Amino acid sequence: MDRNVIFQHFFQRFGAPAGSLFMAPGRVNLIGEHTDYNGGFVFPGAVCQGIMAAVRPSTGSRMVRAYAIDLDSYCEFCLDDPEGPSRVDFRYLYGVARELMGRGVRVEGFDTVYAGDVPLGAGMSSSAALECCFAYGLNRLFGGGLDRMELALVGQATEHRYVGVNCGIMDQFVSMHGREGSLVRLDCRSGEFEYFPWHPEGYRLVLVNSCVKHELVGSPYNDRRRSCERVAQLAGVETLRDCTWEQLEALRPQLSEEDYRRARYVLGEADRVLAVCDALQHDDYERVGEQMYLTHEGLSKDYEVSCEEIDFLVEVARRCGVTGARIMGGGFGGCTINLVRDDRYEAFTAEVAPAYRARFGVECKVIPVVIGEGARLIDN
Ligand code: GLA
Repeated sequence: MDRNVIFQHFFQRFGAPAGSLFMAPGRVNLIGEHTDYNGGFVFPGAVCQGIMAAVRPSTGSRMVRAYAIDLDSYCEFCLDDPEGPSRVDFRYLYGVARELMGRGVRVEGFDTVYAGDVPLGAGMSSSAALECCFAYGLNRLFGGGLDRMELALVGQATEHRYVGVNCGIMDQFVSMHGREGSLVRLDCRSGEFEYFPWHPEGYRLVLVNSCVKHELVGSPYNDRRRSCERVAQLAGVETLRDCTWEQLEALRPQLSEEDYRRARYVLGEADRVLAVCDALQHDDYERVGEQMYLTHEGLSKDYEVSCEEIDFLVEVARRCGVTGARIMGGGFGGCTINLVRDDRYEAFTAEVAPAYRARFGVECKVIPVVIGEGARLIDN
C-alpha cells in the first residue's frame, strides 16, 4: 500500500489535496474459530496488511464520493438515502456511515480514495479492515467520540444489516484493538480481553493462501450460526459457551446429525482454546500445534467449512513436519495458518507451492505473519 498512489488518485479525481489518511488491518487467528458468535474465546492478532483510506470532509454536503483503487470502481451516494448503493463493495462504506449516524455521530459528506493489501476473500478479514478504517476515520473526523469497542460494533452491525453476513465480533474487534507484536485473547461473552506478547522462540507463523476465494455473503456461514443457535436454545442457554458436554449428549436424540456435529465442534474448540492458553504459559508450542491440527479436523469434518484445496495444504504441512496447521477464518477457502519450527520453515515453504501446483494447477501464496497495530491515523 503506497500512500503516494492514494494521494495521486485523490488529486486526479477530486482536484484537491487528500485530507487525512487512515489505516485499519486485517487479522490472523491462532485458535478459537467460529467461537465468537457462540460467546466463546478467540485468539487473534492484527496483521500489517490492511486498508488505507484518504478522507476529506466536504462540509455542508450530504454526498459521499468514493473511489476504490483496487477495484477501479467509483460510487456516489447521499448519506440520507435510506437504501444506499446496491453494489456490495460500497455498502460497507454506506453501512458504516449510517451506523455511526445512528449512534449520534454527525457524519457529513466526504470524498475518499482507498486501497488495500489484504488479499480479498482469503480469510484475513479484508472486509473488517475496510469497515474499521472508515469507522475509525469518520468517527475521528466528525468528532464522534465513540470508543474502539463501539467502533468494532459499528463494523459488525454493517455486516449484519448492510451486507448480510451474521458474523461475530472477532475481526472488527482485533482490527480496532490490535497491538504490534501481541496476540489478544478476547472473551466474546464478557468483552474482556488480554494481550499476549507473541515471540515464540524458535517458531514462526506463516499463512498459505489457497487462492480459493471464500465468499461469506450468502454462504453457509449464516447457516452454521443458525445450527448453533438452535442447539443453544434447546439446551436452554444463551450461547453454546454455556452448554456442557453432558447437555449436548442428552440432547442428541432431538438434534439432526448435522446440528449435533456442529455443536460438537464448538464445544471441542472451547476446550482447545483453553488447552492452548495453558500451553502458551509453558512455552509449549508443540502442544499449541497439536491443538491447531485438531481444530482443522473439527472444522473440516464436523463443521464442514473446509475444502479439498485447504485440506491438501494442511496435509502437506503435516508431511513437512509443520508443528500446527489449520484453515483460518470463516472458511470455504482462503488461507491456512501454520505454526512452523524455524528449522522446518525453508523445507515447508519450498515444498508447498510446487505440491499445490502439481495437484490443482494453481499457485498458492506464502505470507509470513507479522503482528501489527490496530486502526489508526497515518497522516493528517
Ligand atoms: C469470520 C467472521 C468472524 C468469525 C470467523 C470464524 O471471519 O467474520 O466473526 O466467526 O469467521 O471464526
